[in-house]
Amino acid sequence: MLDQLAALERELIAKAAAAQTEAELESLRTDFLGRKGGRLSQVMSGVGKLAKEERADFGRHANETKERIEAEFARAEQRIHRALLTDELARTYDVTFPGSRPRLGSLHVLRRTLNDVASFFRSRGFAIVMGPEVETEFYNFEAMNIPADHPARDAMDTFYLPTGSLLRTHTSPMQVRTMLAHTPPIAIIVPGKTYRRDALDARHAFMFHQFEGLQVDRGITFGHLKGLVSDLCRYLYGKTRRTRFRPSYFQFTEPSAEVDVSCPVCDGSGCRTCGGAGWLEMGGSGMVHPQVLRTAGYDPEVYSGWAFGLGIERIAMVRHGIDDIRLFTENDLSFLEQFA
Ligand code: DAH
Repeated sequence: MLDQLAALERELIAKAAAAQTEAELESLRTDFLGRKGGRLSQVMSGVGKLAKEERADFGRHANETKERIEAEFARAEQRIHRALLTDELARTYDVTFPGSRPRLGSLHVLRRTLNDVASFFRSRGFAIVMGPEVETEFYNFEAMNIPADHPARDAMDTFYLPTGSLLRTHTSPMQVRTMLAHTPPIAIIVPGKTYRRDALDARHAFMFHQFEGLQVDRGITFGHLKGLVSDLCRYLYGKTRRTRFRPSYFQFTEPSAEVDVSCPVCDGSGCRTCGGAGWLEMGGSGMVHPQVLRTAGYDPEVYSGWAFGLGIERIAMVRHGIDDIRLFTENDLSFLEQFA
């Protein structure tokens, strides 16, 4: 009878290994392990014919055989399940189909422009500092020599907050903030967002970017300003660009000048980009007004300085031939990807 058990086990192992479907396996199970008429039960029912002392030994063998047979079923079941799953996946997913590449992000064209400007000034020893976008009237206006009720405040239509502070209309407030916090010599640029209540069109936005430049020390002259800004324009627009300083007026500089660069598109002969002028306006500049130096606690008899405020959108527009300032904030990928 022990031989019968061993033969049964061998047969089951071979058949279970050959089974391909759950149904086949199920019928094998009934055939071998069924309670009534199952082949194992049949062998076991012969226990009565054994001599008493052999029964216990046979029972143990029979139980062990049954456990091994059950383990064999479990293994076969797992194998069949795994095969089914693989089949299913192969039917549903074509693993040879080319994958889709994840889209890579890239720096925004304004950030790239700013990075270029920053690396120009960094290599010349300037520190890059940031200031608050929510400003006080004092730093945005008074300290810049624009008293309350002065008509110049209208020119920079301002967003006021309920607290009485405001969104800075230019990066200039960082001039006095920096001078109050440090002693000369000072050489900084201040990039950042600025805000004005302007109606949106191709040339105006209610939020745009400027960078302020400021250098203060003993013996600083307009010549330092001219040399540096001319260099900057050649660096940004190409070696053949000419720069011109056009007399102008700002409350916080004396004398003041607007910076123009010869049009990189027509080289001065006049075209659509420069509106026929041959020159493009880059921003304002001048020698820091004695009153601004005094507000910062500097003696204008000892120290002098220059300052400028240039537009980052303006630079990007001229460099890349972009004709609408709204493109920078619309997040149209077909626009942005051109600068990736
Ligand atoms: N703050 C001025 C503006 O936003 C630009 C400007 C002009 C800044 C002359 C300066 C400067 O530092 O010297 O319109």
